[in-house]
Amino acid sequence: MAKNSLPHEKVLRIGIAGLGTVAQGLLTLLVENAERITRQAGMPIEVVRIASRSAKPEVDVGKAVFDTNLESLLHDDVDVVVELIGGVDAARELISSALTRGKPIVTANKAVLAEHANEWFSGDAILGIEASVAGGIPIMSTLKSGLSGNRVDWLVGIINGTCNYILTAMDEQGTSFADALKEAQDLGYAEADPGFDVDGVDAAQKLALLAALAFDIPVSMDDMYIEGISGVTVEDLRYARELGFRIRHVGIARRNEEKFETRVHPSLISATNLVGDVAGVANAVIVGANAIGSILLVGPGAGGLPTASAVLSDLIEIARGTYPRLRIGQNEGIRVPVAATESRYYLNIPAADRPGVFGEIGDILRRGGISIEAVIQKREAIRKTDGESWVPIVMVTERVVEASMDDALSHLSSLESVRGQIRRIRVADFDR
Ligand SMILES: NC(=O)c1ccc[n+]([C@@H]2O[C@H](COP(=O)([O-])OP(=O)(O)OC[C@H]3O[C@@H](n4cnc5c(N)ncnc54)[C@H](OP(=O)(O)O)[C@@H]3O)[C@@H](O)[C@H]2O)c1
Repeated sequence: MAKNSLPHEKVLRIGIAGLGTVAQGLLTLLVENAERITRQAGMPIEVVRIASRSAKPEVDVGKAVFDTNLESLLHDDVDVVVELIGGVDAARELISSALTRGKPIVTANKAVLAEHANEWFSGDAILGIEASVAGGIPIMSTLKSGLSGNRVDWLVGIINGTCNYILTAMDEQGTSFADALKEAQDLGYAEADPGFDVDGVDAAQKLALLAALAFDIPVSMDDMYIEGISGVTVEDLRYARELGFRIRHVGIARRNEEKFETRVHPSLISATNLVGDVAGVANAVIVGANAIGSILLVGPGAGGLPTASAVLSDLIEIARGTYPRLRIGQNEGIRVPVAATESRYYLNIPAADRPGVFGEIGDILRRGGISIEAVIQKREAIRKTDGESWVPIVMVTERVVEASMDDALSHLSSLESVRGQIRRIRVADFDR
């Protein structure tokens, strides 16, 4: 068991970098839950220093000394640094400096971890990362401690609350993508640059960390397939429902011996799967492992208090001297490209409304070895563009390797009877 070497035995003295949403949540919990935190940690946790770009006189920082210089947190009177500034460069420097001095550090910053964690995960560093993925859901400790005796085979996560909020609003209220994004921004859910959320980058960073902890592999976004939600339409969500599915943006990680598959993209999920009901900004992670079968964790993926709860769980473990050092294997394994993965697919094909077209489409799919499982083609969906009638042909295929689907799609797109962009969404099949 890791034994930390805190210089001060009776109080855990922390220094917080940043004074934003999560830092303020942490200050609140340290006061509100002081009694339980002290009992659990075996000592009080006291904020002795805060360093941030700008002071916030309206925030009660107790007896903490405020400084605008992050280096002030490396002073001897700080036992543990808590990095809550976000971003990459300054955070990387602070984390590296603290660890070089043998100071434990806790961070909520998935962006810096996705790029640099491998520098810190080896050796004796005590680096708390619970808050970096899925906010208040204790998924990191579940993977590194709770399930450490299992072989984790796969995990699927709704790990970006903004995407889930937008897709839920489009699904349940028929709100357009643009309006749902605006709502998410007005409510403070979206990142400062919403592209990180809706293009899938934020989820990809979190998936890289989850996969590292699940499979004991280095953190890597190399060969990860990343697709956002901007191509999903309200029409797709409606058809998905008719076919017995919901559409959610998920991260999927799978292992097969030494081969690892990691991808984030919108997915059809069976309406009978518990994850299909995860709505709004909630996050959920399902883990499949050889001893437990599968487990589902659902909860708040963001917010000041939930994220601070995760920061505190690391701080309490560090105070107890039981925070496990992160053991990440050096084996890169083989990263499976998305073209080699296998899925069922939802296809929405805008096709000319005339006899024989369905046969042409069916022929191409048959030649690609692709079977159709379900199909919807509605008279009331007929539309007219430039005087010509066309209709969406919507289907779910049976499982097929993605490269074969790509090939079939390029043939379908070149058909004279196909009148626009074919939309393709993978079906995520998993237990729960
Ligand atoms: N908010 C959430 O729900 C949530 C959930 C999970 C994880 N996280 C992660 O938690 C971290 C903090 O997020 P947050 O929402 O609390 O961010 P935030 O509200 O934007 O607060 C960031 C704080 O850090 C300060 N800061 C930023 N860059 C700095 C720098 N280079 N030097 C000194 N101070 C700097 C900011 O100063 P100013 O006040 O002057 O801008 C602000 O006080 C991020 O890594 C984020 O990804 C957040």
